[in-house]
Amino acid sequence: MAVVPVMCLLLLAGAAGATLRFASYYTDHMVLQKEPAGAVVWGYGQPGAAVALSLARDGAVVMKKMAQVKEPSGTWKVILDPMAHGGPYALMAEQRSENLTLQDIYFGDVWLCSGQSNMAMTVLQVVNASKELAAAARYPYVRVFATAPARSDTELEDLVRVDVPWSVPTAGILGHGNFTYFSALCWLFGRYLYETLRYPVGLLESAWGGTPIEAWSSPRALRACGLQEDAARFSPHEHLSGPQAPSVLWNAMIHPLLNVTLRGIAWYQGEANAFVHTDLYNCTFPALVADWRQAFHAGSAGQTEPLLPFGFVQLAPYRRQSPDDGFARLRWHQTADVGFAPNPRMPRTFMAVAADLGDERSPYGSIHPRDKQSVARRLLLGARAVAYGEKGLVFQGPYPTRATGDATGDLLNVTYNQELVWHRRVERAFEVCCSSQLPLAPCQWVPAPVVAVESRRVTLTLAGCGAPALGLRYAWAEWPCEYQACALYNGQGLPAPPFRTDALPGSREPFSTSLHLPLVFPGGM
Ligand SMILES: *[C@@H]1O[C@H](CO)[C@@H](O)[C@H](O)[C@H]1NC(C)=O
Ligand SMILES: *[C@@H]1O[C@H](CO)[C@@H](O)[C@H](O)[C@H]1NC(C)=O
Ligand SMILES: *[C@@H]1O[C@H](CO)[C@@H](O)[C@H](O)[C@H]1NC(C)=O
Ligand SMILES: *[C@@H]1O[C@H](CO)[C@@H](O)[C@H](O)[C@H]1NC(C)=O
Ligand SMILES: *[C@@H]1O[C@H](CO)[C@@H](O)[C@H](O)[C@H]1NC(C)=O
Ligand SMILES: *[C@@H]1O[C@H](CO)[C@@H](O)[C@H](O)[C@H]1NC(C)=O
Repeated sequence: MAVVPVMCLLLLAGAAGATLRFASYYTDHMVLQKEPAGAVVWGYGQPGAAVALSLARDGAVVMKKMAQVKEPSGTWKVILDPMAHGGPYALMAEQRSENLTLQDIYFGDVWLCSGQSNMAMTVLQVVNASKELAAAARYPYVRVFATAPARSDTELEDLVRVDVPWSVPTAGILGHGNFTYFSALCWLFGRYLYETLRYPVGLLESAWGGTPIEAWSSPRALRACGLQEDAARFSPHEHLSGPQAPSVLWNAMIHPLLNVTLRGIAWYQGEANAFVHTDLYNCTFPALVADWRQAFHAGSAGQTEPLLPFGFVQLAPYRRQSPDDGFARLRWHQTADVGFAPNPRMPRTFMAVAADLGDERSPYGSIHPRDKQSVARRLLLGARAVAYGEKGLVFQGPYPTRATGDATGDLLNVTYNQELVWHRRVERAFEVCCSSQLPLAPCQWVPAPVVAVESRRVTLTLAGCGAPALGLRYAWAEWPCEYQACALYNGQGLPAPPFRTDALPGSREPFSTSLHLPLVFPGGM
């Protein structure tokens, strides 16, 4: 007897599908991806009907495209010819006697911003919030869109709900509330990008606080890392506030967007994985990057480039006293254990280091530092170099290329790839792993104080070791230093990212020769 209402619902759904409409994220004021890619536009209509799409400027049609509404999905899809940046355009769809028009459309670069609460944190919550909100009106060509939080057990075709349809920014939209919308990091990054590019930028936010990477990963990406994707057998971690079940956010908040043509992705996530599957992140993160790229490329019928630029934020400090090194390990795994980005395991990625941007007094908890401007500026440098190919731009902090011990074993020289600026007061910046007296016992990490910094070379004393040193690490702590005062920066103010060399358990080989640091220069990639 319950069959009747179900059938009524199906009929209603079918009838609604026949009406001409655009997918949820095609609205007035949107930015469509400019040349050389073609922007994808899709929507719903009467199965079998023809849909005509026309793009007009100042009342004159500049492009016309036809599409057939597919059966049984009831969807149509058009790839616009590549367009130079600019606008405003009107985009009209017609099906039989129906028509719909989107107004105030611009062509520019479209970036997707995703991750957990540090991406969701809004402009209202950051340093200089009132000044940043007041500045919004000066950027009418940086357009914003935010998905509403949603989860699903199956891959959805369109978004369940939209929090902010494409909008011209105002203080009200950017500072709606705490962790709702709009993302401060996404906004600041897009605004700085606009100042560089001087053409329209579209920012598409899809983020949810307290969520592990597994929720954002497709079943395919999880399988690549040996994770079971069975939501029923999944047990959530008590520390995390957001959905954690595998693929639920991928299904509802990323899969529906795959058809859009993008210029790049900005990602700030990982705090949750300092508690869950930490040592899998060196697989799950590169797998997500590769999988999202492949999926956005396929979903846009090849318009979104296969090696889509992917920028990310390396975790900021959380607790000054930490019970474990989960944050330090997660930061390392964010680079696929290489230490910097891009790197051979993560081509065309870029990283904003934030390990020196702690904010113990943040009213939103120290896990939510308020200086998102510095993070956005560092991310912008990576985007300019990696995504936009600006030559000769210094966009990474110094990275070591070699560590050489002297004959007595008392000193260690670490050579960096850039000129160094040294903040003397940081204790425990470097640590060495001293071999144990007992065979096969793990080595012990002890501080190796800096005795001198000259140009690109740091000299450390190993006096505290008393035994051959087997490993070396830098800034390996959840809270490695005070605000903008880690031990090593370059002349441009970019911090040296944390690193560690592998100390082989049971190995007895001291630094008599060169240490096994990656002999790759970050700038050369
Ligand atoms: C679009 O539809 C409206 C009625 O909804 C009609 O008045 C108008 O003429 C149509 N425009 C075009 C270009 O077909
Ligand atoms: C956001 O959080 C701050 C600090 O807890 C609080 O003072 C403020 O009222 C909150 N704002 C909104 C809009 O909830
Ligand atoms: C990830 O890190 C863990 C712990 O350090 C290590 O055992 C594992 O081999 C690494 N996996 C990859 C794919 O790099
Ligand atoms: C959007 O992309 C997905 C994934 O490639 C695909 O399954 C779906 O059919 C596409 N939607 C439309 C309307 O083409
Ligand atoms: C906040 O504004 C002050 C005054 O303009 C400026 O000096 C400071 O750098 C700003 N802080 C950030 C994080 O942008
Ligand atoms: C290490 O650096 C010091 C200067 O700080 C230099 O005198 C010494 O020769 C160097 N040792 C090695 C082994 O390179």
